[in-house]
Amino acid sequence: MSRILIVDDDSQMREALTVAIHRYGYPVDAAKNANTALEMIKEKDYSLIITDMKMPGMSGLEFIKSVRAHTLTVPILVITGFATVENAVECMKHGASDYLMKPFSFDTLEQAIRGLLNNDFSGDAEIITGDERMLQTLRMAKEVARTDTTVLITGESGTGKELVARYIHKNSNRSSRRMIAVNCAAIPDNLLESELFGHEKGAFTGAIERKIGKFELANKSTLLLDEIGEMPTSVQAKLLRVLQEKEIDRIGGRSPVAVDIRIIATTNRDLIQEIEKGNFREDLYYRLGVFPIELPPLRERPGDIVLLANHFLERYTKQYGKTIKGFSPSAVDYMNSCPWRGNIRELQNAIQRAVLLCTSSLIEREHIIVNNNHRAEPQRSVMTLKEMEREMIIKTLKITGGNRTKAAEKLGITVRTLRNKLNEYQLNL
Ligand SMILES: Nc1ncnc2c1ncn2[C@@H]1O[C@H](COP(=O)(O)OP(=O)(O)OP(=O)(O)O)[C@@H](O)[C@H]1O
Ligand SMILES: [Mg+2]
Repeated sequence: MSRILIVDDDSQMREALTVAIHRYGYPVDAAKNANTALEMIKEKDYSLIITDMKMPGMSGLEFIKSVRAHTLTVPILVITGFATVENAVECMKHGASDYLMKPFSFDTLEQAIRGLLNNDFSGDAEIITGDERMLQTLRMAKEVARTDTTVLITGESGTGKELVARYIHKNSNRSSRRMIAVNCAAIPDNLLESELFGHEKGAFTGAIERKIGKFELANKSTLLLDEIGEMPTSVQAKLLRVLQEKEIDRIGGRSPVAVDIRIIATTNRDLIQEIEKGNFREDLYYRLGVFPIELPPLRERPGDIVLLANHFLERYTKQYGKTIKGFSPSAVDYMNSCPWRGNIRELQNAIQRAVLLCTSSLIEREHIIVNNNHRAEPQRSVMTLKEMEREMIIKTLKITGGNRTKAAEKLGITVRTLRNKLNEYQLNL
């Protein structure tokens, strides 16, 4: 059973994380400092440790080093504020498995946790389907995999876009190398460019050392640009150049570097609509969409609901050491009648929860808990007011294309206040 340990000196954050993680179905303990956490690790086995960076006493980094001195296997998820990105990178170097930048939504947290706990599944997951349209799509995906064609995968959240991207990479002649993935939605706009292109030492304030970007890391392999609809237009222009010239410019670099990469992009947005709104470049859309793949929502592949439910049932009964034979007829009816707005991910989470709740040999209707008021806007309750303000500012500037006067107007504050807040939050937008 996956037990999670939270380490954070902020009691509100500890509380919020505990409640959220409970809701995902995992048992959880919390420690208010790193020393206590180290004691707890000696007492109990944890499958995941989530730690804050900045804590009085032993810092997050020191803590990670101490944990890694004893065990290399437990995944460590680091939570960090904007100002400590460099520290987060430092943490990754010392053995952290992933990091989340504040503010983050419950959805992002859940995904990060499940990703780390199901590591051996997610890398090489099987695609389960009996749906004719899906099977046809997969046949085509396999064909195109062998070429270097750019692929654009669209579909609602949770329809399996990343899974299909991995399937394409696995069936390509680049599969001996690791696919590199960048989630454009998870990286603040002003950091995305250096994340992708890298930078030379001293290219801008804070560029303490040279950084190799994801494009270069993905050389001779596949680069997955996840949630490309969230990419700011300035970076879109640079991406277009990479696709055309097959070379990149590191920020502050003197000469371009040649790269050989296969790009797969995903989005759950309607890019045509985004083009009309001026958020997405039309020329880039046509470059990317050479081979479009559209994944149907789960409600349009009705036969797959029970098929997938059984697949997940088998996985989670094994994982939790339970003996559950199947679903009761009322549970099956109920699953078939659900809208599954969060698609396969939602079904998967519901079955995982049902397996945990079920104490008999059949999953009953009441074990299946579906969140109906759903997914359009992820819940944000982990955020503080300040974090919300910061996010509002980022979003508004994105909408206005970086125009501060317009952004201030939309936010109902003066340009001067906006400038002060940008300074306060160290936003370089
Ligand atoms: N056909 C399938 N068979 C088995 N598992 C699936 C299938 N489709 C999706 N999944 C699982 O559902 C979850 C969501 O899939 P994935 O992350 O690929 O979706 P996504 O479209 O990228 O979602 P999002 O838009 O939210 O990023 C993953 O755990 C994945 O393994
Ligand atoms: Mg995805």
